[in-house]
Amino acid sequence: FPPDLLLLPVGYLLGSIPFGWLAGRWLAGIDLRQEGSGSTGATNVLRVLGKGPALAVFLLDVLKGTAAVLLAKAVLQPLGEFSTASDWGVVASGLAALAGHIWPVWLGWKGGKAVATGLGMLLGLTWPVGLACFGIFLTTLSLSRIVSLSSVVAALSLPLLMLGSFGDSGLRPAYLSLALLTTALVLWRHRSNLQRLMAGTEPKLGAGRN
Ligand code: G3P
Repeated sequence: FPPDLLLLPVGYLLGSIPFGWLAGRWLAGIDLRQEGSGSTGATNVLRVLGKGPALAVFLLDVLKGTAAVLLAKAVLQPLGEFSTASDWGVVASGLAALAGHIWPVWLGWKGGKAVATGLGMLLGLTWPVGLACFGIFLTTLSLSRIVSLSSVVAALSLPLLMLGSFGDSGLRPAYLSLALLTTALVLWRHRSNLQRLMAGTEPKLGAGRN
């Protein structure tokens, strides 16, 4: 049994650790899927539980995405940093973590919106792109005070940032595919936010529940 195939279930399991849901359970005895936007992500934790828990959940959700990718890199590195096989393997592990976060088997497949874990995945994969995305997120957030809008803008910029980041290593089809897929996933997970944004009813930061 090729050990690198184990990376996919391991990535999924890492991503599926429901830090937000656990925070709701432990700190307030609630099910986050029934509160606020229904998401198990840090934004909904902020809305329902407050700043401290939200920051902790954000960091842990970032970390699990990074961990999945770094683990895959460590296992697949012997194939060579720019080998196509290792690229696809690392990307698949990152996406497995993202899938685990969005569709956790433990919570009836109801998880988060792929933003913090997506950021962690990008930081592990190619940190300058992750940092640039985070910068765009923070800039949009400081201007709009709307988290979902900032997530969508950052997600839309991701494929361009990824394309722009290919230097001497040339075009990396696996990385570009990951960028496109991640953008699609984030947009799709934000479809109710997008409807509210277009209707002008999406709450700003600190404005309470959706
Ligand atoms: O990261 C998720 C954020 O963009 C939106 O979360 O709970 O407001 O739908 P929420």
